[in-house]
Amino acid sequence: MGDRPYVLLSCAMSIDGYIDDATTSRLLLSNDADFDRVDAVRAECDAILVGAHTVRQDNPRLVVRSRARRDARRAQGLPPSPIKVTLTAHGDLDPALSFFTEGDTDKIVYCASPAVEAARERLDGVATIVDSRDPVDLHLVLDDLWARGVRRLLVEGGSSVHTRFLTAGLADEAHVVVAPFFVGDSRATRFVGDGEYPWNSHYRARLAEVRQLGDVVLLRYALSDRCAGKNG
Ligand SMILES: NC(=O)c1ccc[n+]([C@@H]2O[C@H](COP(=O)([O-])OP(=O)(O)OC[C@H]3O[C@@H](n4cnc5c(N)ncnc54)[C@H](OP(=O)(O)O)[C@@H]3O)[C@@H](O)[C@H]2O)c1
Repeated sequence: MGDRPYVLLSCAMSIDGYIDDATTSRLLLSNDADFDRVDAVRAECDAILVGAHTVRQDNPRLVVRSRARRDARRAQGLPPSPIKVTLTAHGDLDPALSFFTEGDTDKIVYCASPAVEAARERLDGVATIVDSRDPVDLHLVLDDLWARGVRRLLVEGGSSVHTRFLTAGLADEAHVVVAPFFVGDSRATRFVGDGEYPWNSHYRARLAEVRQLGDVVLLRYALSDRCAGKNG
């Protein structure tokens, strides 16, 4: 293990590669079995990161849902749910969002320098605001998380966050779940945007596992040599 957290990217997409539709309501792509799998993955991580747009739009709780898993974490001296982490350029986050109000765990906001002061005022007492340069520097984010004891980081989207981690070569593993339907609307959000990715037709990622969970399929890709084989 290097001196930055192991980074696991997780997303659910439609057959045509969308991670949401173009409406304001949240699109459910996973099924119950897969939500439970994600819950188990969350319980094994030290921190969960999502982009500020996902925090605002989806208002996710980002906590471990299973009581047994929360109890198991407590028994190991850990908080019941992983630390919550978000990235923001503008710092425009409402302290009433579930990201801040739910879960007995630390919340960290990595904020671009120009917005730090306003974010500290707005989120006083609910989150730690870290000045992360301008634009937000992912290497700084990972170094800071490592210094806070985070060894395993789960990145749960959205699209621009996934794009940034993948094009920077900072992901060790990806969990891609494909739901059995199409969105078929180019106004909707895709898994990732344009960019130069380390994996292409000449340099293929390693498919570490394929797992069927009811009507969805999990594709697990090893993106670095830190990702072990089938059970890693
Ligand atoms: N299906 C899935 O698995 C899944 C999971 C999560 C999200 N989603 C969907 O993804 C969509 C949101 O994706 P998105 O691309 O619009 O937004 P996003 O990735 O959730 O958040 C992007 C925001 O992050 C902030 N940011 C600051 N520094 C950044 C950096 N270095 N790299 C990237 N972002 C940085 C900016 O926030 P500020 O605007 O505050 O400056 C930026 O607007 C939603 O539709 C959501 O439903 C789907």
